[in-house]
Amino acid sequence: MSEKYSEDQIQRFPFMDKNLDLEKRVEDLLGRLTLEEKFKLSSGRRMWHTKPIKRLGVKPFTMYDGPHGVRADTLGEIKSTYFPSAICRAATWNPNLSYEFGKAVGEEVRDVGAHMLLAPGINIQRTPMNGRTFEYQTEDPYLNKILAVATVKGIQSQRIAACVKHFVCNNQETNRFTVSTEVSERALQEIYLPAFKATVLEADAWSFMTCYNKVNGIYGSENVNLLKERLIEEWGFRGFTVSDWNATASTSTAECVKAGLSLEMPTAKKYNKTNMRKAFQEGGFTEEDLNDNIRRLIRVMFLVGLYDDEKAVPKGSRNTPEHQAIARKITEEGIVLLKNDNASLPLNINEIKKIAVLGPNANLRTEGDDIMSSGGSSINYPPYKISPLDGLKEKCLNQVELTKIPSEADATIIFAGLNHNPGMDAEGEDKKSFELPSEQIELIQKTANECANTIIVLINGSPIAMNSWIDNVSSVVEAWYGGMEAGRAIASVIFGDTNPSGKLTLTFPKKLSDSPAHVSKRTFPGDDKVFYDEGIFVGYRHFDKKSIEPLFPFGFGLSYTSFSYENLMIDKKKIKNNDVIKVSIDVTNSGKIEGKEIVQLYIQDVKSSIERPTKELKRFEKVSLHPNETKTVIFELKKEDLSFYDEAVNSWVVETGAFNILVGSSSRDIRLQGEIDYLE
Ligand code: BGC
Repeated sequence: MSEKYSEDQIQRFPFMDKNLDLEKRVEDLLGRLTLEEKFKLSSGRRMWHTKPIKRLGVKPFTMYDGPHGVRADTLGEIKSTYFPSAICRAATWNPNLSYEFGKAVGEEVRDVGAHMLLAPGINIQRTPMNGRTFEYQTEDPYLNKILAVATVKGIQSQRIAACVKHFVCNNQETNRFTVSTEVSERALQEIYLPAFKATVLEADAWSFMTCYNKVNGIYGSENVNLLKERLIEEWGFRGFTVSDWNATASTSTAECVKAGLSLEMPTAKKYNKTNMRKAFQEGGFTEEDLNDNIRRLIRVMFLVGLYDDEKAVPKGSRNTPEHQAIARKITEEGIVLLKNDNASLPLNINEIKKIAVLGPNANLRTEGDDIMSSGGSSINYPPYKISPLDGLKEKCLNQVELTKIPSEADATIIFAGLNHNPGMDAEGEDKKSFELPSEQIELIQKTANECANTIIVLINGSPIAMNSWIDNVSSVVEAWYGGMEAGRAIASVIFGDTNPSGKLTLTFPKKLSDSPAHVSKRTFPGDDKVFYDEGIFVGYRHFDKKSIEPLFPFGFGLSYTSFSYENLMIDKKKIKNNDVIKVSIDVTNSGKIEGKEIVQLYIQDVKSSIERPTKELKRFEKVSLHPNETKTVIFELKKEDLSFYDEAVNSWVVETGAFNILVGSSSRDIRLQGEIDYLE
């Protein structure tokens, strides 16, 4: 039996000394744990916690979902701010807002007494049909990386661990517990891994969640190559890995330990005492293997202040007006104006008399009230929810009459889209259809015949087909799932209090078969295996390569004003090894109202020994401009920005020769172009 200690004795242990060096505290605690206690610490209990070791005063470490706010219990008794979906936050293209979100949600995690948030989810949006598209950020690795790094930094600014998930290639829900993603090394390096890697290198992420699926035949939780070789050894990750909930089901105890899986959640299965003892006795892993896994978990316990005086850790807060204002601001900036014929938006509140409000999502207070109909693990329970109709009513109060009869109205707004029911934008299965439900299409057609100014506001979290109805309506607004303040943010855009400035972070195809994953069953959803035959040609890289006209391209979004681009200047045309290239562009607000433009810089390798994308996003900046105001946007590029991953030599390579620098307002609206020559 190991010795029991009194509270006083525990307080005098070196690991309790907050002035001692972090690694010394870690080693001190690790050195006091018996082998059996290390087994015990390797798995969770009661869904969201690690087990305490009372003998040593080791407290439970608590982790809660999720990407859109903290959900502290499953029943919804504890309320918290419901932030907009990740796809909406991403559509702001504003890393500051991702940081603000992270910081605010970190404060809420702290306030409910937890230590880690199971977020952000940063899997690449490979297909519009993924049930979890709304929980992820984008199809582009660079944008993904910038937003993921900002989010992790925000969360961890509160000494709350971020848990970056789901590592990696968990890009569909169909067969998610068994499917093997068959993906090339180049696609991993160029598309699927960069954001994960950057959260370690640039944001010091304290935790990673493994994926349910296999990657090239091996489950994420026992994948030596992903966890041990890349994450830990190559990237220098100092945090701990946690299995997705029950993701260890078909794995082996010894393989998980050796791969570097620190924590099995939600309860002990592969890591229960019997399995651990047996695998250990059979030589399946050594105590050193286990020590490293436990050391990582303990390190994060110290990082979040689990053994520090409460006064020494940041103070939490929850459901504050500040957090609600951040939620609203993100939605206002994330809403994307997709179509606006004859400038039918914004509506002028002083001129318009009657608005008809229709559509199944007018009253949608996403998310629903029970977990199964609420998109899955990212649900949370806010103290209130402003539906689109609530938002309109509040704005129109005593000024504009709201009706349900389009023929009598000056304008009709249809709140269409999807919801978080299974088979729509929800975890657990993929979307059943790429179309809007047929009754919505009929409603749009019928209404458009009755009212000349029909505006569609979409509440959904993934691309949908619009071909059958888009030509009949005057405006389309993509409002996503906008969190608890959604209705106010939408009203603000509709009436022009907010000039829309969001842009799409993924391509909206005209039809599903245009999309790279939808070539055959082999490429989606697969069977035992799903083959990523498109390689690096994901999203706009595919549409460019095949010259397919999308419905709306990556990087697209309209504004109530217009912007002009002039004077592309490149400071050196011939560049060598460590040169930094400065690219500057003058962007002017050429319209009549203040607005924000997202200036995008893509590179294009003019001639390459292997096939490369027509263009790749390398920089962007969101600039705010008054009418007639001009700002000079300066981007700095380095040689790495010109490189590709060469499987022949297993490394990143830059080839000499010409590269085009393309600057524009979307991936299909390049306004200026210059050339540089890489000499070596
Ligand atoms: C999801 C994770 C989530 C976990 C805990 C899993 O089913 O894939 O994203 O964090 O459950 O709820």
